[in-house]
Amino acid sequence: MDNLAQVTTEHLPSHRPAAAPAAGRVPRLSLRENLAGVAAMRRDQLGFLIRTVRDKGDIFHMRLGGLPTVMVNHPDYLQHVLVDHHQNYNKDNFLYRATRTVLREGLVANKGGAEWRRHRRLMQPSFQHASVASFSANISDLTGEMLNRWETRFGDDTVVDVSTETADLALQIVLRSLFGIVSPDRGRRFAEDFVEVNSIAGDFFRFPFPPLSWYSPKRNRLRALIRSLDAFIADLIEARLNSETGQTDLFTLLLNAMDEETGTGLTHDQLASEILSMIIAGYETSSNSIAWIFYQLAAHQDVQRRVQEEVDGVLAGRVPAFEDLPKLAYTRMVIDETLRMFTPAWQTMRHAIDDDVIGGYHIPRGTDIYLNMFTFHRHPEFWPEPDRFDPERFTPEEVAKRPRNVYQPFGSGPRHCLGKHFALTELHIITVMLAQRLHATRPAGQPPAGFAPLITLHPKGGIHLRFKRR
Ligand code: HEM
Repeated sequence: MDNLAQVTTEHLPSHRPAAAPAAGRVPRLSLRENLAGVAAMRRDQLGFLIRTVRDKGDIFHMRLGGLPTVMVNHPDYLQHVLVDHHQNYNKDNFLYRATRTVLREGLVANKGGAEWRRHRRLMQPSFQHASVASFSANISDLTGEMLNRWETRFGDDTVVDVSTETADLALQIVLRSLFGIVSPDRGRRFAEDFVEVNSIAGDFFRFPFPPLSWYSPKRNRLRALIRSLDAFIADLIEARLNSETGQTDLFTLLLNAMDEETGTGLTHDQLASEILSMIIAGYETSSNSIAWIFYQLAAHQDVQRRVQEEVDGVLAGRVPAFEDLPKLAYTRMVIDETLRMFTPAWQTMRHAIDDDVIGGYHIPRGTDIYLNMFTFHRHPEFWPEPDRFDPERFTPEEVAKRPRNVYQPFGSGPRHCLGKHFALTELHIITVMLAQRLHATRPAGQPPAGFAPLITLHPKGGIHLRFKRR
């Protein structure tokens, strides 16, 4: 899919999930459609999925990268899989098997079960309101440093490579929150390695052959990259253990966390996997979100002006504090709408442990269920004119009109994003600070940004914008 203009879902028929006879068979793509799909997925994954949902409805059986899956695209079905019957759905599927090659048994890719629950119980308190509030100064300090750099380095006519800058920023934010101050140079190599991992993993998901355990130049490269990511984490942990900073960072909280139910904490290996998972889950998604938010502000000047008015009115030029954020409600609506259209964690999968029935359709045990937030957030029954950017969809009145779980940027149920409040605080503070200081525009003649659907949803070729001091 090359540009936004090509994502045309506006004329899809409005439909309820088709009624099925008791435990009916899930509709299937034909052999011809599946074969065409393998090629189409490699060329234009999002376009193929959008067309297939339009033609087949809210639940259908397809071969994804050649492997059998059932795709569900209705809020009732997502509610069923992720929340109401979550005990029957784990992450033992090919998307997460591939992800586990990199993230091992950290929370994100963990199959699920008692050990996942123990880790989640241990880690959850470190991501609650009070902890997130205590990390918000890291976010505003680092954003301030980035904007100072922009103001001195870039004149009004320079086109800024926003994606690279926001990747640096988001990585520094998660590293500083975890470990206190970490030199920016140390993070850069990690970021470069991870971009390559993401691209190899994205290719694998579109066409999962040969298996990751085989030996081939690409698979060997992946192994080398994973060793390099591991070495980076091991160095950070060692350096942090050898320096008594006296600060309460996330690392200290996790190192000292104790599970009351079992009386156990995390071993050093478990801590290393969790830290790698958090850095990867936390920086890539946030960095893409920030780049897309800046892009939307530049593309919608009226929205940008309204954000600037709100920010000026509430803060009168001072740096935002955590407590200011609830007052910056329109800015938050802009963030919510951007996460609807460009949801970075755009796909996930579950594996049915036992036979089940979803919406009247029989799901045999062992079925892999595919959930795609890109198509889901464009469901025409719940999102009229889904390709139109419109923050007004997120006024409290509009939100109250929609069914629950129709909006899923952070997932839902017990495996919803651990870093949701952290991420929303980060996006909010960064957007506010940008709007306070700079005005963004798109360079004349720039074509609309396209999508690169890797493991996370990237802007294809990055986001490039001009900024002017306000
Ligand atoms: C805009 C930014 C972010 C988005 C859109 C996002 C999205 C998501 C989604 C959709 C899931 C659930 C996946 C599934 O159900 O299969 C998830 C899980 C997770 N996220 Fe995030 N995330 C973001 C930022 C963060 C940050 C900042 C952190 C931590 C610092 C984080 C840590 C995690 C972890 C640990 C999990 C796994 C939770 C579990 O399975 O128990 N995320 N994220």
